[in-house]
Amino acid sequence: MSNLEQTLIVVKPDGFKKGLVGKIISRFEQKGFQIVNLKLFQFDVDTAKRFYESHKDKHFFDELVSFICSGKTVGCILEGTNAVSTVRLMVGNTKSSEALPGTIRGDLGIGLTDNIIHASDSAESFIKESKIIFN
Ligand code: CMP
Repeated sequence: MSNLEQTLIVVKPDGFKKGLVGKIISRFEQKGFQIVNLKLFQFDVDTAKRFYESHKDKHFFDELVSFICSGKTVGCILEGTNAVSTVRLMVGNTKSSEALPGTIRGDLGIGLTDNIIHASDSAESFIKESKIIFN
């Protein structure tokens, strides 16, 4: 039975600067996901802290907030079968240097903080994160 879901991806400042927005979104379209909403924007510090609140106690939190605010980003809500888990599979390992070829990070990135793209890790995260971006 089909499990229709929505999820959020954010093309991070490194992905935007490398001109990868079209290529990344095209992968999801080719897979069969529908674009439900799309937004070009730049995070401010307050919004970034809310967006990454679950990481607030991590040693890399300040670096992460600073990086995500460093340039333009593109937020995109995608809809399709098992969107949360399938999109995460397509995105690949958080450490781009260890992400498998065929995944977005494996093919297009090398960094950790600067790992090209964010994708919601659960239905609950999707609801919280998409409200922050598309308010
Ligand atoms: P993202 O999927 O956006 O979710 C949280 C982000 O934190 C992650 O991608 C990385 O960009 C970043 N991150 C995770 N672990 C580390 C780390 N050890 N050092 C720096 N950044 C990290």
